Amino acid sequence: MNFSCLTIRVLTFQDLCSPRLDCLRFKTSKFRAPAPLSLTLADTTASPSCPKARPNCCACNKTNKMPIQAKIGPSILNADLANLAAESQKLLDNGADYLHLDVMDGAFVPNLTFGHPMVKCLRNHIKEAFFETHMMVQNPEQWIAPMADAGVNLYTFHVEPVKDVCNVTRKIQEAGMKVGLAIKPGTEVKEIEKYIDVADLVLVMTVEPGFGGQSFMADMMPKVEWLRNNYPNLDIEVDGGVGPKTIDCCAKAGANWIVSGTAVVGSADQRQVISELRNVVKSYLK
Ligand code: DX5
Ligand code: ZN
Repeated sequence: MNFSCLTIRVLTFQDLCSPRLDCLRFKTSKFRAPAPLSLTLADTTASPSCPKARPNCCACNKTNKMPIQAKIGPSILNADLANLAAESQKLLDNGADYLHLDVMDGAFVPNLTFGHPMVKCLRNHIKEAFFETHMMVQNPEQWIAPMADAGVNLYTFHVEPVKDVCNVTRKIQEAGMKVGLAIKPGTEVKEIEKYIDVADLVLVMTVEPGFGGQSFMADMMPKVEWLRNNYPNLDIEVDGGVGPKTIDCCAKAGANWIVSGTAVVGSADQRQVISELRNVVKSYLK
């Protein structure tokens, strides 16, 4: 085949946009392109999306997320731990949205509860329910893999003993769990502001962590208000001394995930208390 008569011409960008492309198509009817080329340039002027936002990112104001909901999670700390599976199932049957599992290592707090072996056994009995572990431990990084293996859904850890919060957060996400950041009463909410966009939830303690049955600290509510005002789509949890007498204060400040131990586990009518707590929160959710 003699190619001497063939002219090869490099098509410039203008060529590609020029109406002349059509003529090319027609000449080479054998190779008719299905549809004219359409080019869209990336809109570089658009504001960059939240770099660390994740699907259902709770913290990103550029919301692509479901509106926040009221969630009631009984703390089983004050339940009969020797009969934990039955006690937990009873709470779920009475309307609990999730189970709040308090893990204490005797170092970060002056108390010792249970670890991943117990959580895994509970998961074997309760296959579907949403498990949050509230990690009151000196080294939260150490327990990420065992808790993921135990079937935990939300790994909420205290930032106070952690040097590299982002590193721990990334490892939790890589282990397939959601991330909760917890602060003690003495920790300012500003301490976690820079990490909020990588968290699914923030837990504001309303008692000094370590024991159930303590009195509610109303002076923690300004932290909840600040979070709600600055992060309207963030899931904000309160934990410690929360029950029918203190729920209005929490919900008004903006909390939507509610941990309640003594007030629910110890009540004669768990279903009534759980729905009362949820209805109060719902009444404040916009
Ligand atoms: C305390 C725990 C709480 C506690 C809540 O350190 O993190 O979850 O069990 O129990 P009440 O509601 O009784 O304060
Ligand atoms: Zn707790």
